[in-house]
Formats: sequence, structure tokens, C-alpha cells
Amino acid sequence: MTSSTVSADTPFEVLGGGPVVRRLVDAFYDLMDADPAYARLRALHAPDLTAMRDSLTGFLTGWLGGPRDWFAAHPGACMMSLHRAMPIDAALAAQWTSAMGRALAATEADPELVEALGETFGRMAGGMTTR
Ligand code: HEM
Repeated sequence: MTSSTVSADTPFEVLGGGPVVRRLVDAFYDLMDADPAYARLRALHAPDLTAMRDSLTGFLTGWLGGPRDWFAAHPGACMMSLHRAMPIDAALAAQWTSAMGRALAATEADPELVEALGETFGRMAGGMTTR
């Protein structure tokens, strides 16, 4: 046993670690950028998605049980609160969930984890609706 602070059983490790989380996030924003089905979701974001790609990668890394640098840099951050001022309706939440579901499938990671994460993201996005 090494002195690593990251357990081998975390969803982060099962998914494939840092490179796979990065690929997941890049696939998500690539889809958002390219598929007209996500045009309204895309329009809500800044023209340059570079900072978002880094932030979502960092958030998901810690949230999945990997290194928690994002949480250390955002003390007390609550994902629900961060979205409270945004005009999110059910259709927009469904666009987010759909793009993330497709990005998750593209990782070709463990199907059970992919399904569980897809459901969890769907609940999170649904809980972020503000109108
Ligand atoms: C319900 C549908 C959602 C919509 C419409 C939405 C939209 C947005 C928008 C417009 C931003 C700001 C982007 C910018 O500054 O250009 C943002 C930031 C962010 N969102 Fe979402 N989001 C949704 C769901 C989620 C979910 C489910 C998660 C996490 C699993 C998430 C994680 C993040 C993160 C990490 C940031 C960056 C926060 C920061 O660095 O300050 N979002 N979101």
C-alpha cells in the first residue's frame, strides 16, 4: 500500500482517472459547441469555453473522489448555489443531461458506472431548474 491519498475504489479511479475525466469534459463541451440540439445551452455560456473545461474537469475530479484541488480553490462552493441565478428551465437541464450522457457513453468506461453517473447528473441538473 502506498501513501497515496486517492483510494483505488473511487468512481474517479474506476472511470479511468484524470485523463478520462478530461476527455469526458472535452467531449461534453465539444458536443455542446457543435450540436444544434444544445444551441440554447451553448448560448448561456461564454464564447470561450476554456475556463469552463478546466473548472468542470476540476470539479468532477474532486466530486468523483480524486484530487480535491478545485474544492480547495473554491472553499464552500455549492454547485446548486452557483447555478441559482441562471435561467434554467427543464428543457435546458435536459440538454445538459443529454450532452453529458453522450459524453459519458463515449468514454466507454464501466457501463454500470456510466449509467449511475448519467442518472445522478440527471437528478443534479433537474434540481438546478429555477423556472
Ligand atoms: C442544469 C443545467 C445546467 C446549466 C444550464 C448550466 C449552465 C452553466 C453556466 C451558464 C455556467 C457559467 C459558464 C460561463 O461562465 O461561461 C456554468 C458553470 C458551471 N457549471 Fe453548470 N450548468 C448546468 C448544470 C451543471 C451540473 C449538473 C454541473 C455539475 C455536475 C455543473 C457544473 C458547473 C461548473 C463546475 C461550473 C463552473 C463554476 C465556476 O468555475 O465558477 N453544471 N454552468
